[in-house]
Amino acid sequence: MRSPADRCAKCGCATPDDGGSAMARRTLIAYYSMTGNTRKIADELRTAMGADCEEIHEPRARRGVGGVLRAMVDTLARREPPIEPVQRDPLDYDLLVLGGPVWAGRIAAPMRTYAHRYGALAPEVAFFCTEGGRGAEGAFAELEEFCRHAPKATLVLDAEHMEASAHRDSLQRFAATAHPAAH
Ligand SMILES: Cc1cc2nc3c(=O)[nH]c(=O)nc-3n(C[C@H](O)[C@H](O)[C@H](O)COP(=O)(O)O)c2cc1C
Repeated sequence: MRSPADRCAKCGCATPDDGGSAMARRTLIAYYSMTGNTRKIADELRTAMGADCEEIHEPRARRGVGGVLRAMVDTLARREPPIEPVQRDPLDYDLLVLGGPVWAGRIAAPMRTYAHRYGALAPEVAFFCTEGGRGAEGAFAELEEFCRHAPKATLVLDAEHMEASAHRDSLQRFAATAHPAAH
């Protein structure tokens, strides 16, 4: 987490710590990914938006059939499983982009935990999700409930659009709509 002393003297926004622009520091992409699809999209968005990233990890990673079963149970019970402490403070950002896979028509359980804890702290939010083919509306509705305001932009990528060439335009549109104005 950054201290107030690390803030930009011009406008008070969070300043870069690795040479990026001050504006780039204002967008945080927080995401969870069990099998890598959402991570791939988050990486592309990070480049497109010049954003910081926070990957959500669980103390006990979900792997194999047991992990999938646990995911289903957590989703059906609307559980908020424990997650590892976060590295980035959402309060340092103007825009919080939340991303995760759709699980049984809802947002993946670890993202539910994150969104409930931090979603309402951000002045503006945007959502993206990856899915096999259906259920994004339910996932976004749940995220909006936790964030307590509507997203500036949403992006849904299904299994048929995971290749960069298949979603380049929609990803760029999402980035342009969601990204805060330059200061
Ligand atoms: C437990 C579980 C439930 C899922 N439920 C849905 C679903 O309701 N609709 C859908 O389109 N895809 C569903 N999927 C597929 C994932 O949403 C999709 O593969 C996603 O891209 C995985 O993201 P990840 O690789 O970042 O974990 C489910 C996957 C798992 C493991």
